[in-house]
Amino acid sequence: MTKKLFIKTYGCQMNVYDTERMVDLMSHEGYVKTDAPEEADLVVLNTCHIREKAAEKVYSDIGRIRVGFEKQKEKDLLERKNEKSEKIIAVAGCVAQAEGAEIMKRAPIVDMVFGPQTYHKLPDMVEEAAQMKEEGVQPRLLDTDLAVDEKFDFLSKKKITKKSSAFLTIQEGCDKFCTFCVVPYTRGAEFSRGIEDVMSDARKLQEAGVTEVTMLGQNVNAYHGRGEDGEEWTLPDLIRRLAKIDGFERLRYTTSHPHDMTDDLIKAHGEIPELMPYLHLPVQSGSDKILKAMNRTHTSAEYMKIIEDLRKVRPDIALSGDFIVGFPEETDADFEATMQLVRDTEYAQAYSFKYSVRPGTPAADMVQVEEHIKAERLAELQELLTQQQMRFNKKNEGQTMRVLMERFGKRENSLAGRSPYMQAVHVNLPSEEIAKKYLGKLVDIYVTNGGARSLRGDIVGLEKQGISAA
Ligand code: 5AD
Ligand code: SF4
Repeated sequence: MTKKLFIKTYGCQMNVYDTERMVDLMSHEGYVKTDAPEEADLVVLNTCHIREKAAEKVYSDIGRIRVGFEKQKEKDLLERKNEKSEKIIAVAGCVAQAEGAEIMKRAPIVDMVFGPQTYHKLPDMVEEAAQMKEEGVQPRLLDTDLAVDEKFDFLSKKKITKKSSAFLTIQEGCDKFCTFCVVPYTRGAEFSRGIEDVMSDARKLQEAGVTEVTMLGQNVNAYHGRGEDGEEWTLPDLIRRLAKIDGFERLRYTTSHPHDMTDDLIKAHGEIPELMPYLHLPVQSGSDKILKAMNRTHTSAEYMKIIEDLRKVRPDIALSGDFIVGFPEETDADFEATMQLVRDTEYAQAYSFKYSVRPGTPAADMVQVEEHIKAERLAELQELLTQQQMRFNKKNEGQTMRVLMERFGKRENSLAGRSPYMQAVHVNLPSEEIAKKYLGKLVDIYVTNGGARSLRGDIVGLEKQGISAA
């Protein structure tokens, strides 16, 4: 009998990847995905701890799901459906890792809690929970072990779903301990997978017809996996090897730290055509005083030098970053240094946040900036970043670029994909049949419109084939 799985993903790409793996794992147990939690037999909340009030949001989601369950129960009773529904509710991810026991205490409806390094045990845990429920006991399973090797061993043996663009986790965790960040505590110490394991996953992606591979890790450019030769391999070594795999036409990696942006990695951007001209390189602040307080281990000048070197080898590279405004003790002058760094860099896109306290991290005990100042600074920074993104997108109008058509768009007969520079690109097509023909393919797109967040364009040559564009 098919069962239904509802899974909600919060936060980063690492979580998106973990969710995909959980869906894959549970599909082998007969589970199909549903968008309606009240219909689900298994509900998984794959949580993120980076954002403010992350745990509160999870508790309110749990509350909503509980109400949905109760309504569904009443409905089933009215319709005299007699099936005993044993729903299982699980909290996964970084909030689970950080506050596992607390979740168990505060949310009695939760049956299991597990962290990012133990989700491969989900099928076993679900079976155990179902068994316990049958015996009339509430499961309350908790697994927040932080050892990662076992997880990757286990996941490597599983099949991969067919698609054009896929993630490949090569590294996890972080030893940097930026003073604002919870990741070293929730994802654990830095761990690089061995080359053999990575290559075995890569071959599976190749078999599944993947065109674009994004190497993932919290500190992906700190990668130092052990090779078959017993030597340590760096990220550029690995990129060079993956670029040789037939079918891998596009390679990306995220997220990087300026500290680990080696000369060899920068060089790779100029030498490897498969390595896409886009880099997400968070700087967080433009003030050296704040960077020091954040324990970032680099100065703003060092960051700017990396950007300069990257542009020397790859002049068209699109840059993205993360910024925190209102970090403890940030003055107007510190904030102005961030604005100046942004003006000097000219980003293609970026993410910016108000600093928010994470209990247990060093910055939580520092002198805090007033909320209204944080809000004003964020608005100012975001306005500048939006202007830069607009400028970047507008520049592409009238150009032709190769776009990987990853999925159907929201509009009828439309496709959505990514440009080499990571911009979202939307294309309307005359029919579903034609849309299907281009799905999953690398296609030349003539950009007709560069908007604030995305591009719009037409497939080059479509009209010549006797089909007029919509
Ligand atoms: N407050 C605000 N932003 C944060 N980030 C991480 N921790 C915090 C925090 N405590 C941001 C950083 C990081 C991104 C993933 O989230 O900019 O690069
Ligand atoms: Fe967090 Fe800093 Fe590690 Fe990034 S490098 S995950 S911000 S501690």
